[in-house]
Amino acid sequence: MPKARAELLTFQIFACRIVSPRLAGALQWLLQLSKLQRRALARPAVKLSLVVLPSVFIGIHLWLAPALLAQSPKFGLGRIPTPDEIKAQDISVAPDGTGLPPGSGTAALGREIYTNRCARCHGDKGEGKDGGVPIAGGIGTLKSPKPLRTVGSYWPHATTIFDYINRAMPFNNPGMLSHDQVYSVTAYVLYLNGLAAETDTIDARTLPKIKMPNRDGFVKDPRPDVATPKKGNIDHAPTHH
Ligand code: HEC
Repeated sequence: MPKARAELLTFQIFACRIVSPRLAGALQWLLQLSKLQRRALARPAVKLSLVVLPSVFIGIHLWLAPALLAQSPKFGLGRIPTPDEIKAQDISVAPDGTGLPPGSGTAALGREIYTNRCARCHGDKGEGKDGGVPIAGGIGTLKSPKPLRTVGSYWPHATTIFDYINRAMPFNNPGMLSHDQVYSVTAYVLYLNGLAAETDTIDARTLPKIKMPNRDGFVKDPRPDVATPKKGNIDHAPTHH
């Protein structure tokens, strides 16, 4: 390989490293090869094994590289969602209440919604029915031999109750409730757990102020590369089992 080409190749390796370390690696190899090449060229057997075969190998790789580096193939399916469609799905509520929508409710208003839409799976008092998930009771049992994990006994943030019901409940038809109805049924779940009175107004201002019994029961994630959620970040811990 002439010296000028080797220099060009060195530059290309440098440029490539920014775009694709794998391609840069291949070019680096080619450069090493060109140095060997000069010494080995005199011997035909060496020439075949050290130069021709690897060059063909690299050649194929370089030829394939654009395809390998290209982004996912285009299938011509779907379309870019509109800002309104994104907004409709962008429903995350942070522990501090960031993202709670306008609206309000009370447990008194939530009772009927709960009876019609929730009780058949969660029981009239949130005790869990037919193997359904209990969502009330168990406060103070977490350290006992028979811990009962419910919204009241386990979840650290009241704001997650709105977020979870709003996105996931009723299980058979999530998204059917209006924000007012979700606030009311959230109030009712709090009421079943003895954490709100029947007439307390639950809204974006009052919900974050409710102190959940297990709010200090979670340890910080000790892994150094995992940042502790900052204000406004989503805390997924309580909703996953
Ligand atoms: C058809 C049965 C069904 C109905 C109706 C239903 N849920 Fe659920 N609910 C479930 C199931 C199943 C889970 C557990 C889902 C999971 O963990 O992935 C659950 C989980 C929950 C949780 C979280 C419990 C926890 O500790 O993880 C809450 C809170 C909740 N539901 C509230 C409600 C409310 C409020 C309604 C009425 C608006 C409702 N659910 C209606 C079946 C139901």
